[in-house]
Amino acid sequence: MLNVGIVGASGYTGSELVRLLVTHPEDVKITCITSESYAGQPISKLHPNLRGLLDLNFENLNPEKVAEKSDIVFLALPHKTSMAYVPKFFGLGVKIIDFSADYRLKDVKLYEKWYQEHTNPELISHAVYGLPEIHREEIKLTSLVAVPGCYPTGAILAILPALKSDVADSEGIIIDSKSGISGAGKSPTEVTHFPNRYDNFVAYNVGSHRHIPEIEQELGNVIGKKLTVCFVPHLVPMCRGILTTAYLKLKKNISTKELLSIYAEQYKNEPFVVVLDEGELPQTQSVRGSNFCHIGVKVVERNNLAIVMSAIDNLTKGASSQAMQCMNIIAGFDETAGLLTPGLMP
Ligand SMILES: NC(=O)c1ccc[n+]([C@@H]2O[C@H](COP(=O)([O-])OP(=O)(O)OC[C@H]3O[C@@H](n4cnc5c(N)ncnc54)[C@H](OP(=O)(O)O)[C@@H]3O)[C@@H](O)[C@H]2O)c1
Repeated sequence: MLNVGIVGASGYTGSELVRLLVTHPEDVKITCITSESYAGQPISKLHPNLRGLLDLNFENLNPEKVAEKSDIVFLALPHKTSMAYVPKFFGLGVKIIDFSADYRLKDVKLYEKWYQEHTNPELISHAVYGLPEIHREEIKLTSLVAVPGCYPTGAILAILPALKSDVADSEGIIIDSKSGISGAGKSPTEVTHFPNRYDNFVAYNVGSHRHIPEIEQELGNVIGKKLTVCFVPHLVPMCRGILTTAYLKLKKNISTKELLSIYAEQYKNEPFVVVLDEGELPQTQSVRGSNFCHIGVKVVERNNLAIVMSAIDNLTKGASSQAMQCMNIIAGFDETAGLLTPGLMP
């Protein structure tokens, strides 16, 4: 049996992970769920969709108590809070799957430039970036997974084959992403307030979003040299889902068909990356609630551009189901166990 604890289970990603884990086909048991605001209350009171599926009360976060009951601990905490707890769990010998940004960037100076002072730089080198499509072999062996950000997951998967095959220029990459509001977490703010979001569409953090260094780190590693990307995120009036469009300058003449075959070859053994047929474009509904990333490709010859689009669900492939995929890899289960659920269409 694999015992798992979920720290921050009252949040959007933590509760989404619970939803996925309760139907895991292997012998996986959720032994502990934490929340400071709901300690002592049953999870089904906050998340009625779990009624009859998980009979467990939230507990206050006590690392010793959580670790005692867990082989793997998921931390679905905000950044900064995570790095206060990761070293405690690490010292207690449990495997950690961390949702925050705190261990994603290998260069602590870069982290401190984009976020804040890092209080636990010692463990950064132990962390593996939890994108199985790039780091599967390292994930198998690690005790600390840094689950990728939601935007970076969609962007990296969209751009990687074009750079790796050297058909696209690593300079001048433009990434435009549209995200549902659940990406901001459960706490209400003016930005997430319904009247401000409903029937409204806005860009934010133009060219300065914190996910930029993560995208640059991972794509830079793939091609073995530094690169910069221009990233413009937007909020759209949806609850969940991210549609990313990447604009890539082509280095050679290539047709859509040829580019698609490069993408199909790159992802031929990836269970969760679907390269769509020529003429098909990804849509967020097709991947809603699922671990799939759908990718569509089109070469626009008159501009010498490859336009690559990806659709993911920010709460699943962008966080919780990707974390479960990492858990499956670590535990030696079939990587797809509990994850081959199709997206939720209308
Ligand atoms: N939302 C997404 O689409 C998404 C995607 C990828 C990655 N992530 C990352 O995943 C992490 C969680 O995001 P989320 O959207 O699920 O956030 P969220 O909805 O705001 O939930 C945060 C959780 O952390 C708990 N928490 C907050 N501060 C705490 C503290 N000081 N001590 C103990 N528990 C604390 C909260 O518990 P209480 O009940 O006590 O408030 C809650 O359970 C973040 O690092 C985020 O960047 C999110």
